[in-house]
Amino acid sequence: MADLRRTSVQELLRSTDLDRDVLVRGWVRTRRGNKYVQFIALNDGSGFNSIQVVANAEQFPEEKLKADGVENGAAVQVRGRLVASQGKGQAVEIQAEEITVYGTADPAAYPLQKKGHTLEFLRDIAHLRPRTNTFGAVLRIRHAMAFAIHDYFNRHGFYYVHTPIITGSDAEGAGQMFRVTTLPDQNPPLMEDKSGVDYKQDFFGKQTNLTVSGQLEAEVAALALGKVYTFGPTFRAENSNTARHLAEFWMVEPEMAFYDLQDNMDLAEDFLRSLVRYALEHCPEDLQFLNDQYDKELLSRLRFVVDNDFQRLTYTEAVDILKSAKQKFEFPVDWGTDLQSEHERYLVEKHFRKPVILTNYPKDIKAFYMKLDEDGRTVRAMDVLFPGIGEIIGGSQREEDLEKLRRRMAEMHVPEHELWWYLELRKYGTAPHAGFGLGFERLLLFVTGMANIRDVIPFPRYPKSAEF
Ligand code: 4AD
Ligand code: MG
Repeated sequence: MADLRRTSVQELLRSTDLDRDVLVRGWVRTRRGNKYVQFIALNDGSGFNSIQVVANAEQFPEEKLKADGVENGAAVQVRGRLVASQGKGQAVEIQAEEITVYGTADPAAYPLQKKGHTLEFLRDIAHLRPRTNTFGAVLRIRHAMAFAIHDYFNRHGFYYVHTPIITGSDAEGAGQMFRVTTLPDQNPPLMEDKSGVDYKQDFFGKQTNLTVSGQLEAEVAALALGKVYTFGPTFRAENSNTARHLAEFWMVEPEMAFYDLQDNMDLAEDFLRSLVRYALEHCPEDLQFLNDQYDKELLSRLRFVVDNDFQRLTYTEAVDILKSAKQKFEFPVDWGTDLQSEHERYLVEKHFRKPVILTNYPKDIKAFYMKLDEDGRTVRAMDVLFPGIGEIIGGSQREEDLEKLRRRMAEMHVPEHELWWYLELRKYGTAPHAGFGLGFERLLLFVTGMANIRDVIPFPRYPKSAEF
């Protein structure tokens, strides 16, 4: 018996090889029963479902289980026989022969009680919420989506490049960066004329920050390896206390040489559809739970996206539609101003009732690197808008002409000296290229149907919150 190997709960639940000795380890989800028999639901995280452990009262009287701490939240090992279940709701169960407790969880103090907790409450116990049905499901889907992303790109001839986390430039030119410094808080070295801190004396000999996007470095790689992507954490110090913004989020950024805006849209659409299809195929139990528990439309919405083309139109066409809409908006719609989320949601949820790709935005509301259109007023930008989410992808064809790029940088006050290497890409072997950024947590909001982005990342970072 001593060499009995541990099996995962999922493996046992799928097993047809019955009437054998098994060993499982996990956490007690519930214990219930009567004076003849006790039922322990044991979950080890390997999948959504728990296995039922049946403990006969002759060997395991309730009082003894209690005294040993076989309670909600305890970590235990169970040795027993895997048998066909007598009861409804499961095919197999374990008849316990030996229960060993690794760690108890005092029922009077354990914060996860049997009753459902609000998502807000669970956010305050982010160290324990992975043990709930909801966060187990979300975290497994998060894993599946990350895997599907690498798999998609690998199958399509993209190379994964690691772009830096610490950078000396502002990739979006939006000034929403977290500074990285090792200078002392008290009396940092000052410039000779005392006009400010002397960052020449800082660790990197210059001002540095956490990256807002890996795009500029991905362009370097694309102009050598052809098709590449980055997938890493990005940081934005925007003070947006919304259900769709994080200060630390993960972004997937493909970048492709010799792609124009059309190619870029085709890729974005195929990519998103295949990720959603992957989730439907590989996470049925977790998705079914989230569908039943939180959002009865979830599965049908996912299938709709897999089965239907996205609607493509220009920003200018979208503005015309919004202007003639019967709906009253809080913010006015004027050509040249950025669309608010109420406008995006009107287009996606009311007007077209499907995902939308908006293109050719006014140059003044988009980043400096986007390729200027012939009219000189708009750029080859694309935003993909999703139901319930709004913007899920932002991307563009890049300006590959050195002089046009320099002019745009000057207009938008982007310092050339910080990006001399980026400009050199246009000097030596420049080529048309394009790419986009998919917010990984926005994708997860869509796939899980969760309403708040803080509930699709294990340890959310947002204004005034960096616990855990
Ligand atoms: O539209 P954004 O700012 O585009 C870029 O950063 C480009 N450099 C991407 C590229 O072309 N390679 O961000 C891309 C996506 C958004 O569409 C959104 O899904 C997500 O990143 N995003 C955020 N997600 C969570 N919290 C935030 N604060 C986010 N800001 C952007
Ligand atoms: Mg954007």
